[in-house]
Amino acid sequence: MFTFQSLIFLCLFLYSNIVLGEVDADGFEIVSSKPSEKSLKRINESYVSKIKPIFTHKCLACHGTYESLPWYYQLPGAKHLMDHDMTEAKSKMNMSQGFPFEGHGSPADDLDALRRSIQKDNMPPLQYRLLHWGSKLTPDEITIIDQWISESQEILRK
Ligand code: HEC
Repeated sequence: MFTFQSLIFLCLFLYSNIVLGEVDADGFEIVSSKPSEKSLKRINESYVSKIKPIFTHKCLACHGTYESLPWYYQLPGAKHLMDHDMTEAKSKMNMSQGFPFEGHGSPADDLDALRRSIQKDNMPPLQYRLLHWGSKLTPDEITIIDQWISESQEILRK
C-alpha cells in the first residue's frame, strides 16, 4: 500500500540523487556513479578472455596496437589509407590497453558506443571489409559481444 511513509522515502531518494549529482542535466536519466576498480577489473578479465580474441583479428588493427596489422599494410597505398583510419579510430576509441577503452567517455559510454556500432553493423568500416575478407563480425561473434555488453552493464550498475 502507498503510505505516507513510503512517500517520505521516495522524496528522500529523489533528493539524495539530485544532491549527489546522479540525475542527468535533463533531470530524468539516472547515470551510475563512478564504477569501482573491482568492477572494471572484472569486466576487463571477461573482455580479455571472450572479446579480445575476436577484436584482435577484426578491430585492433585500427583500434589497437601495430602487432595486429594485416600483411597488406606494407603495400604503399594501403599504408597511406590505413594510417589515417588508425589515427582516427584510436582517437575515438583506443582498445590497446583493454577495458575501459581510452579516448572515449566513461566505461558505460564505451559499452553504449560498442552496442550502437554492432547494431548499425558499421564496424569494421566497409572499405576495410573489402580489403580484409572475413573481417565482418559473424552472427555468433555478435551474440558473444552482445552478451558481454549486457553482463558488463549489469556489473557497472551495481
Ligand atoms: C580500418 C580501421 C578500423 C577497423 C578495422 C575498425 N574500426 Fe572502429 N572506427 C574506425 C574509425 C576511423 C572510427 C572513427 C570514425 C567513425 O566513428 O566512423 C571508428 C569508430 C568506432 C567506434 C565509435 C566510437 C565513438 O566515438 O562512438 C566504435 C564503437 C568502433 N569503431 C568499434 C569497432 C569494432 C568493434 C571493430 C571491430 C569489429 C572496429 N571498430 C574495427 C576504424 C576502424
